[in-house]
Amino acid sequence: MKRTHNCGELRKNDIGKAVTLCGWVDRRRDLGGVIFVDLRDKYGKTQVVFNPEHNADVHKIADTLRNEFVIQVTGEVQSRPAGMENEKISTGDIDVKINELVIFNKSENPPLAVNDPKEECKENDDLRLRYRYLDLRRPWIQKNLMLKSKLLGETHAFFRRNGFEEIETPVLCKSTPEGARDYLVPSRVNPGKFYALPQSPQQYKQLLMIAGMDRYYQIAKCFRDEDLRADRQPEFTQIDLEMSFVEQSDVMAMLDNFVKEVLAKIWGFEIPEIPRIKYADAMLRYGSDKPDLRFDLPIFDVSEIAANVDFTVFKSVVANKGVVRGLAAKGCVDFTRKQIDDLTAFVGRYGAKGLVWMRVKDGDEIETQVAKFFTKDQLNALRDAIGGKAGDMLFFIAGSEKIAANAMGHLRLEIARIKDLMDPQVRKFAWVTEFPMFEYSETENRYSSMHHPFTSPLPEHLDIMLSGNLKDCKAQAYDLVLNGVEIGGGSVRIHNPDIQEKVFHLLGLSEAQVKEKFGFFVDAFRFGAPPHGGLALGLDRVVATLEGQDSIRDFIAFPKNTSASSPMDSSPSEVDPVQLLETHISLNVSQKL
Ligand code: AMO
Ligand code: AMP
Repeated sequence: MKRTHNCGELRKNDIGKAVTLCGWVDRRRDLGGVIFVDLRDKYGKTQVVFNPEHNADVHKIADTLRNEFVIQVTGEVQSRPAGMENEKISTGDIDVKINELVIFNKSENPPLAVNDPKEECKENDDLRLRYRYLDLRRPWIQKNLMLKSKLLGETHAFFRRNGFEEIETPVLCKSTPEGARDYLVPSRVNPGKFYALPQSPQQYKQLLMIAGMDRYYQIAKCFRDEDLRADRQPEFTQIDLEMSFVEQSDVMAMLDNFVKEVLAKIWGFEIPEIPRIKYADAMLRYGSDKPDLRFDLPIFDVSEIAANVDFTVFKSVVANKGVVRGLAAKGCVDFTRKQIDDLTAFVGRYGAKGLVWMRVKDGDEIETQVAKFFTKDQLNALRDAIGGKAGDMLFFIAGSEKIAANAMGHLRLEIARIKDLMDPQVRKFAWVTEFPMFEYSETENRYSSMHHPFTSPLPEHLDIMLSGNLKDCKAQAYDLVLNGVEIGGGSVRIHNPDIQEKVFHLLGLSEAQVKEKFGFFVDAFRFGAPPHGGLALGLDRVVATLEGQDSIRDFIAFPKNTSASSPMDSSPSEVDPVQLLETHISLNVSQKL
């Protein structure tokens, strides 16, 4: 071995030992001829000392050391002089007096300050990604990757002790619809044909249930060509599972245990029973299907009261089948006009045409921009309907149900952000259940599956669906939400081939399209498919959210930027014309779709 200890290991009781350490120069200081180097590796930092009086030759070489040189040092552990201890690092009681130094490799002046603490890392994202191997030397990113590695270990152990088999599914496969575009891979030996990279292993895991594997899990790479955001990457990892002979409650109970036995243990938090909220209730009360339950700020429907006021905006919206929703922003009575204007612009981004505000002052006087349209009783009724008290600012939005719910939901989050109610140390999980089976796209003028087309309707909604009423049909689909982030989703699947075919038809696929896209899948269901269901957790989101971070990028070793490229290796990139020829592809890049 080239080292006797790592850089996070030495303590007081090692004083006097001869040791050899390896690592990178984190920082080098020259104090009156004595050179101090913080030596860094994955395990920590140790201060090593080059004293010219102790070893002049070694000191001379040490003088050439610069940040990020990778070196080996040998010396004796010594106590730091009284008052010079460093409580911030685990090895802060000691340092090592060096008498041998090997420079394994020099480093050019690094384009990133590796030793900057997280708050001080100011480089732009593309620079960080271009030199990702340097960025990854930063202890706080290494910690993220180590946490994820630990979670992976515990995840394997959990599913194995619960009787799940780990089974790999193909990465070169037929397209699986999960609502995003596919990444395609051309086939050299099948001219004009393409594989798709899996958006998830959905169909394969269902086929494994048909194959009798009973319980499957996999840490699966998924690929989706969609617009990227902080919580989305073109390739990401799922903890994917499927179970036979189960109902929705069995899958959810398994995940409840996973949260308790794995997540709560690693991150050290208490987990009460995870609440289950119906989709419709979540949309009403929180304006979102992924409610953040760290704070209350509930939303209320006040359409009935609003229908009878003189304010035309409210009245006409309700008369046209719209709704009016309100919430009481606790303790926000002092919001300034500027803040209110900003909030009005903010909800405008979500389609709200305006924002009615009411200040509930001491003595219950209500001040509002629309006072002249309301009687005192009507103002009081609105205040009481949403639980407003003196000291609160009340907000109301009128619009279509979709817009009012969504804009209110975002307003709720924005107020929580302003009032600092989103404590990252608090972990609030929730199940959201009874999702609609279908959602209507105004732009495409058609229905699509809200989860995916293999999801089963609620048993009592099967007839509703078969009668063609897609709007009111609810699914046996469920999402797991943590602090307002969707960390997982799943469903009980259709196991009757006729119903599966019917769903494809309801989604607008012709007989021929079903045969071509899903023929193999529907066929398989004709040979004894068991009832089954499952779920997938987004691994990157789980770790990032538990760490209180919005972006999953710092939890993925080599992520892509927001244009889905990697500034480090310049992928995606042009390929050799011969490769195009071999894969039967001719390019037409100038033509826009
Ligand atoms: P779904 O599409 O809901 O379900 O995905 C499951 C979970 O994967 C995570 N996720 C992502 N994470 C990072 N980047 C992305 N682009 C991304 N897209 C999704 C989310 C999400 O909750 N086959 C079904 C599961 C099932 O029905 O069993 C599926 O993939 O955390
Ligand atoms: P207007 O009549 O458009 O000038 O609007 C009067 C007030 O009502 C303004 O302060 C608007 O912000 C507010 N307002 C307008 N439309 C809506 C709406 N759909 N929901 C809530 N408030 C609205």
